[in-house]
Amino acid sequence: MSIYLDYAATTPTRPEVIALITQVLEQQWGNPSSLHNWGERSTMTVERARLRVADLINGDPEGIIFTSGGTESNNLALWGITRQYSQPQHLIISAVEHSAIAQPVKILKEMGWAVTELPVDRYGSVNPQDLKLAIQANTVLVSVIYAQNEVGTVQPIAELGKICRDANVLFHTDAVQAIGRMDIDLATLPVDLLSISSHKIYGGQGVGALYARPNLKLMPLILGGGQERGRRSGTESVAAIAGFGLAAELAKSEIGTESLRLRALSDRLFTELKDIPSLVPTGATHNLRLPNHISFCYESCAHAMDGRRIVREMNAIGIGISAGSACSSGALVPSSTLLVMGFNQAQALGSIRITMGLQTTPTDIELTISALKKILTT
Ligand SMILES: Cc1ncc(COP(=O)(O)O)c(C=O)c1O
Repeated sequence: MSIYLDYAATTPTRPEVIALITQVLEQQWGNPSSLHNWGERSTMTVERARLRVADLINGDPEGIIFTSGGTESNNLALWGITRQYSQPQHLIISAVEHSAIAQPVKILKEMGWAVTELPVDRYGSVNPQDLKLAIQANTVLVSVIYAQNEVGTVQPIAELGKICRDANVLFHTDAVQAIGRMDIDLATLPVDLLSISSHKIYGGQGVGALYARPNLKLMPLILGGGQERGRRSGTESVAAIAGFGLAAELAKSEIGTESLRLRALSDRLFTELKDIPSLVPTGATHNLRLPNHISFCYESCAHAMDGRRIVREMNAIGIGISAGSACSSGALVPSSTLLVMGFNQAQALGSIRITMGLQTTPTDIELTISALKKILTT
């Protein structure tokens, strides 16, 4: 058996993307900064990808800055804004951010920045009223994750963005998990900065983008030859960027049908698993969560099992799932996301996440249901 159900960690690169990346590596290896034909062909490839990525989020292509992935995009948003201030100011984030936001914010705190962490409810949702109350005269940036990686909860981004816009405060959202799984329309969303990553949409690892509203002042993180209009230096990874562009275009064309199909598979899994004793669903319900994402925590005295043991037992029979966030699954620490949502220590250690994608079939889901029932009830 070989069933991959960890699409939130990464997705398999699409064959069409692999074909394009190979073609670009073979035929368009010129440096986009060069003035000759070789360079010009590469520039055209990068610019075509920029249009395709911008189209996925209905944003201005001028606002797309290609980066090495979601982690760099998040760092560029935070440092790009905060480094403009000679004195520490005030920042607001949610209590359920990915470490690519939480870690740099920890450093900013050590540097003297005041930080407010917005609490979340039992479902992992931020209350927009809390944001309204938290904004101060010296708040320069708010960053709230679009869709939470461990529990799938989608935040009320439009409302949060509007509160920031009304208060004249910049708003960033980490949309790495949301991208390609739900419609994101920057023509209507009041968002100034948005992070995305190629490997979550079948585009290959090591490339992503930060969307920064055109004319927004951003200090570069990486200085050098002035690529990406001076906002991110370094010779562009032309092939990877081309692959990201194609993946974005394909994601856009199938987002509607895929999200319905995946929602049906998640519903089936959820209905079957919720009857297992001691299995408690985590995250928001139905349309307030990602369509491809279900998560539970398991707590049973009779079957002392942390999430990692469940992952290992599932892996032994050929099914790949995750214990909480893949990025932190190397260490036996309870999920901080679940703790702030009000789950206890034992529950937070027993968290599992199942995320589906393009290659997931109804048969995969039936086999997963039987396997989990067997592991958790015998
Ligand atoms: C919500 C979120 N933000 C950021 C990242 C980091 O993205 P990347 O792996 O492209 O650096 C991840 C990766 O899992 C994520 O889930």
